[in-house]
Amino acid sequence: MPPVTPLRFVTFEGGEGAGKSTQIRLLAEALRQAGELVEVTREPGGTKGAEEIRALLVEGAAGRWQAETEALLHFAARAEHLAHVIRPALAAGKWVLCDRFADSTLAYQGYGQGLDLDWLWTLRRRIVGPTEPGLTFMMDLPVEKGLARAETEQRYERMGVDFHRRLADGFRQLAAADPTRCRIIDAARAREVIAADIAGLIRDRFGVSL
Ligand code: TMP
Repeated sequence: MPPVTPLRFVTFEGGEGAGKSTQIRLLAEALRQAGELVEVTREPGGTKGAEEIRALLVEGAAGRWQAETEALLHFAARAEHLAHVIRPALAAGKWVLCDRFADSTLAYQGYGQGLDLDWLWTLRRRIVGPTEPGLTFMMDLPVEKGLARAETEQRYERMGVDFHRRLADGFRQLAAADPTRCRIIDAARAREVIAADIAGLIRDRFGVSL
């Protein structure tokens, strides 16, 4: 089979406070300096409708939703985001750098909240289809450190340390199952060191000179 060209769709995943947004900003700057067009976005969110769904998900009591409801809301927001932002940007030749994507649903609602992983993968295949990321960075940080660093105390931060341990383990399992797409990044290092690591992995995967 000929090698499949990976989409220039790069996702950043991990627990709370792992430094995803800083690394996205640094990578976006590096790509723009290299003359590339870049769209930076996030999940849940990225469109007006998906940001409205985000507010339902990140505010309020920890037990506000059934886990199934929660997973469906994340996929509903994702369907809007894919249709209105991600696919049009990729079609226009832009890089898309996204703060969280479908691995977060597997990790938080699957490994964390205990939903059936096969059901979540069925939804993922249906909603994401061929628009899987070309590369995913799993920012790995000890759970206590991440929770202490998280800037706001919102709904998911209130779900307890055991929940966060389960989802951190989930991200590691997701990465191990798909080594072509996923790279685990040790997020406890200095941000410049992490950024250099990420730039090197982007070069290797996409053949761009950064
Ligand atoms: P953020 O704090 O990284 O912006 O993300 C908002 C919260 O939503 C975060 O605590 C993780 C959670 N989340 C899920 O539980 N499932 C998902 O599919 C996504 C994208 C985020």
